[in-house]
Amino acid sequence: MQLPLCLDMSRRRNLQRQLFEQIRELIIDGRLKPGVQLPASRVLAQDLGVSRNTVIQAYGVLVAEGYLEMRPPVGTFVAAIALPHAASPHQEAMPLPPPSPPRLLLHYKGKPHVVMSPYPQPVAFDFWVGRPDARLFPILNWARSIKKRLRYLQDGNSGYGDPAGLWDLRKAIADYVGVARGVQAEPCDVLVVNGIQEGLSLMAQLFIGEGTGVVVENPCYMGAANVFASRGARLLPVSVDTHGLCVDELPESATLAYLTPSHQYPTGATLSMARRERLLEWAQSCNTYILEDDYDSDFYYDQAPLPALKSQDESGHVIYMGTFSKSLGAGLRIGYLVLPRHLFEHVLTAKCLLNNSTVWLIQALLADFLATGAYRQHLHQIRMLYAARRSLLACTLLQEIGGEVTGIQSGMHLVWHVPPSLPEASELEQLARAQSVGVYSFPTGNAQVFGRSAERRYARALMMGYAALQESEIQEGVRRLSRLVG
Ligand SMILES: Cc1ncc(COP(=O)(O)O)c(C=O)c1O
Repeated sequence: MQLPLCLDMSRRRNLQRQLFEQIRELIIDGRLKPGVQLPASRVLAQDLGVSRNTVIQAYGVLVAEGYLEMRPPVGTFVAAIALPHAASPHQEAMPLPPPSPPRLLLHYKGKPHVVMSPYPQPVAFDFWVGRPDARLFPILNWARSIKKRLRYLQDGNSGYGDPAGLWDLRKAIADYVGVARGVQAEPCDVLVVNGIQEGLSLMAQLFIGEGTGVVVENPCYMGAANVFASRGARLLPVSVDTHGLCVDELPESATLAYLTPSHQYPTGATLSMARRERLLEWAQSCNTYILEDDYDSDFYYDQAPLPALKSQDESGHVIYMGTFSKSLGAGLRIGYLVLPRHLFEHVLTAKCLLNNSTVWLIQALLADFLATGAYRQHLHQIRMLYAARRSLLACTLLQEIGGEVTGIQSGMHLVWHVPPSLPEASELEQLARAQSVGVYSFPTGNAQVFGRSAERRYARALMMGYAALQESEIQEGVRRLSRLVG
C-alpha cells in the first residue's frame, strides 16, 4: 500500500519526526482506519528514500503512543482505537469524505483515547448520580421574580454584562459561602461562570499546556480529567481511601491539583482535617494551585460539614468552585469561582475570551433568590427530603440484598459495594438496565479509574443517586434489583 507521505528532505535531522507526525495525522483524520496494515519498514524506507532505521523508530513511537500495534510475525497495524466514522478495513474504497471535524484526543500514559459522552438513556427507576428532584424546583418564587425583573428591565438584556458576573449575585454568593462554607470572600473575589465545567475549562486554558502535571484523585470526576487531558495535561493520579486523598502519595511537583474534598467524587469520602493541613503545606511548598470542586456540599445530613478547604487557605493557593447545578438544576448552567485576588484579572480575561459573560436573566433571578433568604429555605426543605431518601435507599439495599454502603454522610449519591456473591458492577449495571433500573459502575457514572489495581478495587462499586427519586420509586428500584440477584 502506498501511503500519501511527503517528507521534507532538507530537514534530514527530523525525518523520523516528520514521518511520525504524518502517519499520526492520517490515523487521526480517519484516512488510515483501525486494523489497516502498514507497509513493512523496509518497503516504506525504500519508497521514501530514507533509512530503514528512521521508519522503525517512527513506527516505534506510534506504537508506544497507542496509534499502531505490532502483530508479530504478520506486521504493523493501525490500532483498534474507536475513531468516529471508522469504517471496517474490508469496506470498498469510497470517495474521500469531507474534512472530518476536529476531535479531542485525550491521553493517559501516552495512550490516546476518544472523549465519550457517557450520558445513558433514562430508565424508569433511574439512580443517576447528582441529579436534583426537578419536582422541587421553586417555580412560584422564580415566576414572581421573572415578572419583577422583566418589568424593571433597563439595559440588562441589551448590552454585555460585567464578565465577572452581576454584582448583586457576586455579593449574594460571597455572603452565602462565608456563612455556609466558611470561605471569607468579597464580591470582587467571586467570578460567575456557566457551571463548574466552565470554571475547569478556564483553569485549563490558563494553566495547562502539553505535559503540564495535574494531580487528580484516583478515581476522579471524569468531566474534570477530560478537560485537563484535552489540553495535553500529564495526569498524576493519587489514590483515595476512607479519609479522602492519600496525601503521602502526592508527587514532588505539579502545576495543579484537582480535588473534591467535601464529598470525594465518586467514592463519597470526606478529606480529613489532618490531611487538609498536609495538602495545603504541600501546595505551598511546590507552588501548586488546588482546584477545590465543592459540587454538592449543600447536602449534609447527620452533622454539620467541615468548612471548605478554601477557608484554611492563607497563602492563596486554593481556587474554590461552587455550582447551583445540584441545588437547583444543571440546566441553569450557573456556578462560581472564588479566586485568590492575584489571579482574578487573569481568569477574567480568559472568561472574556470565551463568552464575555453569563446569561443576565438567570443571574438576576438567582441573585434575588439568594438575597431574600429563599435559597436557604429551599435548601433546608430539600435537604430533609434527600436525607430521608438516602436513609431509605441505604437501608433497603442492605436489608434486601446486602453488601456495604459508603459515602452517605453528605451529597446526593452513595456507593454500594456489591456483595461478592453477585456479579461485578458493570455486569449488574447491564442486568439492572434490562429491568429499567439505572445503577452506575464508576466509568458509566462519569468517574475515571486509573490503572489495573484501582480498577480491581472498584470493580464491585456501584454509584446510586437518590435525590431525584421519590420513596416509592426507590423501593421499587431496589425490589427489582433484589429480584434480579435473588
Ligand atoms: C464532581 C463534579 N464536579 C463538577 C460537576 C459539574 O458541575 P456544573 O454543572 O456546575 O458544570 C459535576 C456534575 O455532575 C460533578 O459531579
